[in-house]
Amino acid sequence: PYGIRCEAAPSTVSRQAFELADVCWDDIGFGIIPTDYMYVMRCPRDGEFSNGTLEPYGNIELSPSSGVLNYGQGLFEGLKAYRKEDGSILLFRPEENGVRMRMGAERLCMPAPTIEQFVDAVKATVLANKRWVPPPGKGSLYIRPLLMGTGAVLGLAPAPEYTFLIYVSPVGNYFKEGLAPINLVIQNDYHRATPGGTGGIKTIGNYASVLKAQSEAKEKGYSDVLYLDSVHKKYLEEVSSCNVFVVKDNTISTPAIRGTILPGITRKSIIDVAVSLGFQVEERLISVEEVLDADEVFCTGTAVVVSPVGSITYHGKRVSYGGGGVGAVSQQLYSVLTRLQMGIAEDKMGWTLQ
Ligand code: COI
Repeated sequence: PYGIRCEAAPSTVSRQAFELADVCWDDIGFGIIPTDYMYVMRCPRDGEFSNGTLEPYGNIELSPSSGVLNYGQGLFEGLKAYRKEDGSILLFRPEENGVRMRMGAERLCMPAPTIEQFVDAVKATVLANKRWVPPPGKGSLYIRPLLMGTGAVLGLAPAPEYTFLIYVSPVGNYFKEGLAPINLVIQNDYHRATPGGTGGIKTIGNYASVLKAQSEAKEKGYSDVLYLDSVHKKYLEEVSSCNVFVVKDNTISTPAIRGTILPGITRKSIIDVAVSLGFQVEERLISVEEVLDADEVFCTGTAVVVSPVGSITYHGKRVSYGGGGVGAVSQQLYSVLTRLQMGIAEDKMGWTLQ
């Protein structure tokens, strides 16, 4: 539904020095726009990942008894490439995604590409699809690496063969609100993760299991759901697709990583950016009462970047933040991070890769 083929006159961006795909760049949201190539690398029975290739983007063949289809033996990652004014392309911390995929693979008994294989594959995929990287200021190229048990199984066991695949799509803002504050509802009946479970890795099952709560929330007009811990039902965990931060005075707090919260790369980057700007940052348990008493709340994630929260509803009571606008701290962190990611500001952190 997004972007493809501009009906209006081509915008000025198509007259720039770099070649661009035929997309209405002012009109992209967060939906799949098929691109030219995907990267595929296989790991045969008892082997290692090797000989990855770029193939035309398209459907893949999968055994009906593959581990991923039957038992959810699958992981995904998400990262972004940004176009600079001079046409060059920047990746943001791709090695961190490679590390996280390896952590998840270990938990799900899967072999995984090395960090070097992962980063090389990401670079090759972006390069092959470079005409799909939006012009500066018009979005980014979302990169979606998958790791799947593609070998056939019937009894419950790790699959005998694995596939690592990367596809990409140009994207704009994740939430339909754009950059405007989102409205969350705290969920008490459904939980995203439990201690000892898989909440701390990026397994596909974590995302299927939140769809019900998310769609119920959307039906009621909320943007998304904020989950509580499943033991005490009182501490914040995360939103369906992103981490959460709470601002009170000069302190920025976020739930600590204890196995039930995804160790977000944007989360980690925002913590470092906030410390560098002089904020007190705390990773700890945060109770519902605290978030309802906060000055500002925002979410972080690769897809959502830094999303200010305009309101949170809990047991029917709605609390608003930022006076209807974007809070000053959320705005500052968004601006510092995105200027660095897009190559507008000098990358003193050494996080971007050309
Ligand atoms: C991301 O932020 O990249 C994610 O993986 C979340 C996804 C549900 C879009």
